[in-house]
This record gives sequence, C-alpha cells and structure tokens, in this order.
Amino acid sequence: MKSIFRILILVLAFATAKGQTLPLIPKPEKVIQNQGTFSLTSQTKITVLDTSLMSEQRLFNGYLDQYYKINLKKEKTTENAIQLSLNPSLGPEAYSLNVSPAGVQIAGGSKAGVFYGIQTLIQLIPTEGSETLSIPCVKIEDRPGFGWRGMHLDVSRHFFPVEFIKKYIDILASYKMNTFHWHLTDDQGWRIEIKKYPKLTETGAWRKGSMIGSYKDHKFDTLRYGGYYTQEQIKEVVGFAQKRHITIVPEIEMPGHSLAAIAAYPNLSCTGKPVDVGMSWGVEENVFCPTEETFQFLSDVLTEVSALFPGKYIHIGGDEVPKASWKKSEFCQELMKKEKLKDEHELQSWFIRRIEKKVNELGKQIIGWDEILEGGLAPNAAVMSWRGTEGGIAAAKQSHYVVMSPGSHCYFDHYQGTPANEPLAIGGYTTVEKTYSYDPIPKELNATEARYIMGAQGNVWTEYITTPEHAEYMAVPRMSALAEVVWTPSNQKNFQDFKTRLIKHFSLLDKKGIHYSQSIFEVKATVSANRNYDGIILSLETLAGTGEILYGINGNPPAIPYKAPIPVTQSGQFSAIYTEKGIPGGKPVQIDFHISKSTGRKITLNPPASEYYPGDGAITLINGRKGSPQYFGYQWLGWSGKNMEAIIDLGHMQPVSSVTLGVLERKESWIYLPKSASILLSSDGKTFEKATEISSGELRAENGQILLRFPQKETRYIKVIAENAGRIPDGAPGAGENAWLFVDEIEVN
Ligand code: ACM
Repeated sequence: MKSIFRILILVLAFATAKGQTLPLIPKPEKVIQNQGTFSLTSQTKITVLDTSLMSEQRLFNGYLDQYYKINLKKEKTTENAIQLSLNPSLGPEAYSLNVSPAGVQIAGGSKAGVFYGIQTLIQLIPTEGSETLSIPCVKIEDRPGFGWRGMHLDVSRHFFPVEFIKKYIDILASYKMNTFHWHLTDDQGWRIEIKKYPKLTETGAWRKGSMIGSYKDHKFDTLRYGGYYTQEQIKEVVGFAQKRHITIVPEIEMPGHSLAAIAAYPNLSCTGKPVDVGMSWGVEENVFCPTEETFQFLSDVLTEVSALFPGKYIHIGGDEVPKASWKKSEFCQELMKKEKLKDEHELQSWFIRRIEKKVNELGKQIIGWDEILEGGLAPNAAVMSWRGTEGGIAAAKQSHYVVMSPGSHCYFDHYQGTPANEPLAIGGYTTVEKTYSYDPIPKELNATEARYIMGAQGNVWTEYITTPEHAEYMAVPRMSALAEVVWTPSNQKNFQDFKTRLIKHFSLLDKKGIHYSQSIFEVKATVSANRNYDGIILSLETLAGTGEILYGINGNPPAIPYKAPIPVTQSGQFSAIYTEKGIPGGKPVQIDFHISKSTGRKITLNPPASEYYPGDGAITLINGRKGSPQYFGYQWLGWSGKNMEAIIDLGHMQPVSSVTLGVLERKESWIYLPKSASILLSSDGKTFEKATEISSGELRAENGQILLRFPQKETRYIKVIAENAGRIPDGAPGAGENAWLFVDEIEVN
C-alpha cells in the first residue's frame, strides 16, 4: 500500500514552489510566501540570542543530526544562520518565523514559542535530500487558539514502554500540542509505582489474561500481562515532556475503574473480598468504598503522584461508576444518612469533593470526566466532557473550566475508515474529516461562558490496541486534524486545504517512522435518493483526488473507471478502489445493496437521530445499505432514550405487506432492542391506520431484523414506530442510564 502513496507524495512534494501549498500542520495564523529559498547545509550556523534557549537549540540540532546527518555549529552571526531569540512582546506560546535566502530567524514569546517556531521550520525542510536542504522563503506569525491542546493515552488496558511514550510525546510536540493525559490506572492494570503501596504494582500491574477479539465474543487468553513505570521512569518522561513544552496530566481513576487497586488492597472495596485484576473490558461494579481507609490510601497516592508531576492538574477519573456496590453496602447507606446525601450520585459528589480538598492542599487542581457533574460539581473542579458536549456546556455555564473531548469527534479508538478494512476497534466511526470539523466552542455558550473552554483533547483508549504501531495508526492523522482544531483560528479552517497539506506531510511521518493511517485515500461511497425519489444513486469519491477510482459489480474485481454517480436499481454488491497511476491503493471497499420498495424514497424522522449517531441523515434508513452489528458507528442511526418514528412516502399508491426493521442489540454498549414496534399506513400522509404492532414482551429480532407482516394493502405513506427500551435495568452496564435504540434500514415489501 505504501508504495503508491510514496509516488503520490513525492509528486506533490516536488510540486512545492512559491504559491504552492506548504505542508504545515497546524496551519499558522499568518503566512506570507516569498520568492526564493534558504539553503540549509552543514555550513549553516545556529545563533542562540538567549542562553535560556539552549534546550530548544539542542533538540533542533539533534533532529537535523538524526534525520539529515547535519551538525550545525553554534556561532553568533547573521550570515547563513538560523537564529533563535525571545521576543517578550509576543504572547507566551506565539512565535514569528522568517525564512529568507540570507538566513532564518525564529523569535518566540517564550521558550515554548521558540520551540513551536522550530516545529514549523522542521515541517518546511524537505524530507528528501541531505547536503543542501532548500527551505522556501516565508514570513510567519503564529499563535495558538486554545491553551489546552491535548492527547490522551490509556496505558492500563495495554501497557506501552517508556520508549514509545517518548515517541508519542514527540509526535504531540511536532503538532504543537501541549498536554499529554496519561491514563495510568484502570480495572485492568495499575501502571505507576507508589512507594507506600508496593502491592499496587506487584499485584495490581499484572492480570492473568486478556480479552481477545471482540468484546461480544467474551474470549480470553491465559497469558500473564502487565507492566508499570517506576518513579524514576516517570521522572525521566516528565523531564522529556518538559523540554518539549508538554505538561503531563496523570490520571488516577476513582472511585470506579479501580479494580486493579482493589486486587492489590481488597480492603478498599465495600466487601473487602479478594479479587483479580480485571481481564474483561467494560465497566466493573466493584469500586472504591468511601471509607476513611480509602481516603487515607488515595491521599497517600495523590501525594506521591503530585510530587512526580509538576503540572497544575491531576485527573481523578470519576467516569462510569456503577452504584450497585454502594447501594448494597450498609456502611455507604449509613454514611449517606450521616452526611445527608440523598442518593449515591450525591455520595459520589461527596467523594470527589473530599479528594478535591486533598488535591488542592497539594497545590493542584482536579479535572474529571463529566460524570463528576452528577450530584454537584466540586468547587474548583475542571471537567473533561466525553459523553458528548452537554457536560462541558453545563460546567462552563457554572463557571468551571472545561476540556472538550466528545466521543463523536475526539475518540481515536473509533474506526477511521470502512470498518471491514480496518483493524478491530471498539466501535464508532470517527474519520479524519469528522475530527477536523470539530469546534470546541459549543454554540450554546455566550462569550463569557466560552472563555471556560480551555481546549480539546483526543483520546486513545487501548482495549483493542496492543502495540505502539497500532496506537500510532489510531492516533495519526486524526491527531493532526485535532491539532489544527485547537491551534488554527476556526475561520481559517478548510478541510480541502488541510487534506492537501496532510498528504504532503505524510512524507515527514514516513521519515520519522510513524505508522499512520491512510484511510483518507479510501473510496468513500455516498448514497443519495435520485431526483424523482424512486431509487438511489451511488457516488464514489476519495479524498486523495488525483488518481482514479475503479469499481466492479457482483463479484467482479474493480476495473470499470468511475466517471459519474451510478443509479443502483437491483440488490447486489459493488466494490471500489482508489488507484494511482494504475496501482491499487489498499483494499477495495465493498458496498452491498438491498433494494426494496422504500429504497431512495422520501423519508422524515421525528425526532432526528442523535448527533452522535447521525449516519448520513434520515436517508441512512432507506439507502439500501445495512450496518454491521460489529461497527455500530457506521450505517446506523441511534436514539438515546427516544423512540424512532419514520414516515416513508412511497411516491404513489402501491401494495405492501411487510416491513423489515434492521435493529441492533449490544447491551454492553447500552444498545437495546426496541420494546415494541408498529406500522401505520396512510393514503394521504395525514390519517394513518394501524396495520400491525408487535407489543412489549413479544418483540423478537432474528439476525438483527424485526419482520412486521400484515394483510396486503394499497398504500402510499408508511409510518414505522420503534419504541425505545427506556432506562437500562439494574445489574446491566449503564444501569439507570437511557438505552440506545439503533436502526440501520427499513425495507418495505
Ligand atoms: C471514558 O471514555 N470512559 C471517559
């Protein structure tokens, strides 16, 4: 796969000249391209005008040495020199970069600004060539849009060695990210040495086996798995990150996601019973018990953690805390009475407030996942909004600082290309384009409230990510897109322009040995209704844009050049592939069609699907394409706690006798079958008569399909209602939350 893109990338790279797109990510605020180039050679000098910039100079020299075997001598000169200086009149992270034939000047408002200027310069250096590197002449003034430009990495579900953590930090830094959220503890492994509690790593860092394959298969291996970072290693990583102007935010999960700690010290749970470190992904019911013993433990742990990480924030988790163990615990029920807490949510809030007090005493602030809003926010807490943006909006309205990290745009453990062609992932469908489209400032906030949005962050949860290469593949290039979201002024964002820069930028990732995804080259199939709403047309496109798309029908390999949208009139299979100079790129994308009387008709939905599972809009339900039970972010529409009501207009009166509703059941992901389903028919779209109903308790789905049959009738409008399952029952993952209803297709026959 790589070779064809190398050709493409080289063609584009050589095309770079004045006026051509520069491979800069994130796009700087102001760029003026000038005639000519600066020639960087081994004769070029480096001039450091402020001794505090030695570390930045050393890192830059190290880069040139590693990748070009060029060693710049230090000398105070303006001739053939790269000059680094401070300019306090610039903002703290701002910089200016001037490349002229005579030399290069980088000035930063602080050391960080200079570092960012160097990152921009690095992106301007050609990736090919060694003796003379021609850097295009530019004048750049640049500064970030947001103060929190973050990436997260879960090292609990799978452990990543220090060398990789450093590489990850280097990648972040190259995109001018400034925050690394290190998810150090969870049910499946405790990964940070705590001197006072050695069993946390002796016991808590090791599990007896891991889940293999998809969660729904519930299969495990029996291999002991684990690892942890010593405090010496943590200090080394913190120092490494500091030099790259990255603050590490350590996460110590509480009160949930704490099974590894409980395995080490069972007295921290409400039952005190011995347990194993978690092997299964998901949410564990066994959580920290809010006893004095637990608070002493957490206070000691946080004291050691606080001493290791110089940043302002400690992430205390707070997400996904089942209340079952607290409900069953006499101690918790007594405590709730004593503290006048009305429910377990308030108990959680009380827990977090106590922790906040301790963290504040240590001179730090807490940040937690948006569940910490439930039962009342701790006075100084910052919120990381992951279950959508609502938590972030609520927190900002209460004058609390917020980091936006909604699953829809910022979860880089989701699929990024056609799931069938991607490594197994947790689910979702978050393309580079989707991430790029994100705006961290929600429309619901006024200007004052918006100031509480510190920025955004991409999350890499590693249940299904076992190697550094795979982690890089999931993170990049979505991280590149997010970097632009948090750096570049939103009115300057343009996906077409970003994509052109990204494709050029890939050669730098190749040079650095970063394993990135090329999903943006994949053929994207879009189905739309034809002009008469009596059928569908298939459009194929690729974001790469310079080669050719080939397609084939019903088992034939893709060989027909795609020229224009194709009407699809029969059930069958298309396959399509992107080619560059005749060489196919990647695997073909398969597109299956199931054509029925509803395909491509007018459809209205009330209410529309959730913005988190919007598919391609209402047409998703009648586009002839089914979703896969494995990949529910793709070709599915989802409703949280709400019914689906669809009205399909068949265009004219015609006989119908059945409706097949494609549905999904994935209880571990809070997705439930509908409680009931009904079909109503109408000749005028106003007065509907019930044709059939499957009532609550009788509804069954076979292979994800609910078949509703009724006596044949002439009709034009069909109303399909699927009733949401409502609240998730006790004992199930997500108990008490709204169930999701997922529908992929409505076939009428
Ligand atoms: C999360 O993804 N559970 C924060």
